[in-house]
Amino acid sequence: MSTLHFERYQDAQPELYLRGQRFQARVQLYDNGIWRLHLWQRPQDADKASAAIMAAPAAVSPHVEPDGERLCLASPTGDRLWLHLDPFRWQWQDLTVLAMDAERQRGLQQEITPPGTAHPNQADTDGLPRGAGFTLTLKAPPGDCYYGLGERTGFLNKRGRRWINWNTDEFSHGPLTDPLYQSHPFVMGCHAGRYWGLYLDESWFSSFDLACTDPDVLAIHSAGPTFDLYLIPGPTPVEVLQRYTALVGKAPLPPLWALGIHQCRWSYPDADSVQAIVAAYQAHDLPLSAIWMDIDYMESYKVFSFSSHRFPDPTGLIQGLRAQGVRTVVIVDPAVKQEPGYPVYETGTALGAWVSDERDTPLVGEVWPKPTVWPDFSRPEVQRWWGEWHKVYLQAGVAGIWNDMNEPSAFNWTPRTLPLHARHGRHSHAEMHNLYGLHMAQATVAGLQQLVPEQRPFVLTRAGSPGIQRYAWVWTGDNSSYWEHLEMSLPMLLNLGLSGVPFVGADIGGFSGDCDGELLSRWTWLGAFYPLMRNHAGKGSRRQEPWEFGEPWLSAIRQALQFR
Ligand code: GLC
Repeated sequence: MSTLHFERYQDAQPELYLRGQRFQARVQLYDNGIWRLHLWQRPQDADKASAAIMAAPAAVSPHVEPDGERLCLASPTGDRLWLHLDPFRWQWQDLTVLAMDAERQRGLQQEITPPGTAHPNQADTDGLPRGAGFTLTLKAPPGDCYYGLGERTGFLNKRGRRWINWNTDEFSHGPLTDPLYQSHPFVMGCHAGRYWGLYLDESWFSSFDLACTDPDVLAIHSAGPTFDLYLIPGPTPVEVLQRYTALVGKAPLPPLWALGIHQCRWSYPDADSVQAIVAAYQAHDLPLSAIWMDIDYMESYKVFSFSSHRFPDPTGLIQGLRAQGVRTVVIVDPAVKQEPGYPVYETGTALGAWVSDERDTPLVGEVWPKPTVWPDFSRPEVQRWWGEWHKVYLQAGVAGIWNDMNEPSAFNWTPRTLPLHARHGRHSHAEMHNLYGLHMAQATVAGLQQLVPEQRPFVLTRAGSPGIQRYAWVWTGDNSSYWEHLEMSLPMLLNLGLSGVPFVGADIGGFSGDCDGELLSRWTWLGAFYPLMRNHAGKGSRRQEPWEFGEPWLSAIRQALQFR
């Protein structure tokens, strides 16, 4: 660890630069009162790109004044940021920096590998530039509360645990599991009734230790070569959120039908079983907005295909359902089966669309399809190619797309994702990992907008990061049919909302394990208040459509659905 030092400052209005022998920093002030502190070491990182920040608010010039050992930066509204150059510290509102250090803490591979599963050859291939890593430690006054951080287990107040930002396919998570599928390095703090926000605009692995290791210290560590932090004033939580979403974007209005009732299962295996579910909804006098088709609609898990024997006439089926007022949503996973002659694989190969290994040959692994390759959605031409493929579904009348396994999940490696040193163009997977779901959703929405510009797109995603709300709704992945998971869904969904992601839901009835009548009816009532109201269950679990447990549960569920 080495402490950061700066030797001088340079007032280059509207920006301020801090100059040191090893590190440089830029301080900016935006017209909505947000401060940005961007630190870097390598010259090429001075103008780093951001996947999350959209139209940043206009920069305004702070008033800069030396104040003894410190610099005082004042915004036109009088908000002040104090900077101490040697050693580097800052103070803003109720936040006091204790230390700012450079260099990584632990190896990235070590951080993301579950205990006892480390692969002996992976230790030194962590995809990080040398010298990377920054740690900021702040005072955590007793009684301060912390919210946000996206999709998390645990209580509404996130104080007392160390939270990891690394999208992970956690298919059997419990109350202590972290991380899950989404990474939002954004925390909203509350000190004596005044709220503030910190947003770390880094896609690399990062962690937020909220008074866990040391009960008086909040520590933010980022593994990447830059440290790009936004200080977001309140003083109310609404104002923090308004300012934060001015940076990373707000969710557009969904199509109206998305607010209705959704039914899913892995999987309704053929056209007849899909039709039977919709008919049973009608026979039981239950409203239904959309029926979802999970991975078994495909031919050998090949995306953009329908099984020719189980779904011989997808257009007839989907349009028939639509005539009964029911929309169809299909799952689309990123992994593309590596199979000569399969048009998605062939056209992607011609484009050079795949994530590659260090030798620039496509990286091959396994998900549902085996073997499989992964599109590199970070590249615009790959996004366009992927978006265009959605015509297969839209021509059949599909109304919405469900993106899954986009952490991305890979079954053949431990941990279950692509190796850190895999290549996305010039970038390593270590840098692009947390953006994979965001870029996939971007590609999907652009495709839908191109193909059906008159309709509001509907995309549901499992993986995501800041900005995901501009493209997709989010569900919380593979929960279980436990009361604990019903309970846990509340702080989880609320903290997603407090992180700027409003359209969210958990699998009603639970995904894994066996539901029963009381759990399903209580959960359906709770789900009537979720933004996304979808009953979904996993393969091998007991059926949990609303009528499965008979009375009195069916009537209670009917009331909840009608209430919704
Ligand atoms: C993943 C998803 C789940 C889906 C299953 C099969 O586990 O989280 O919702 O049903 O894959 O596609």
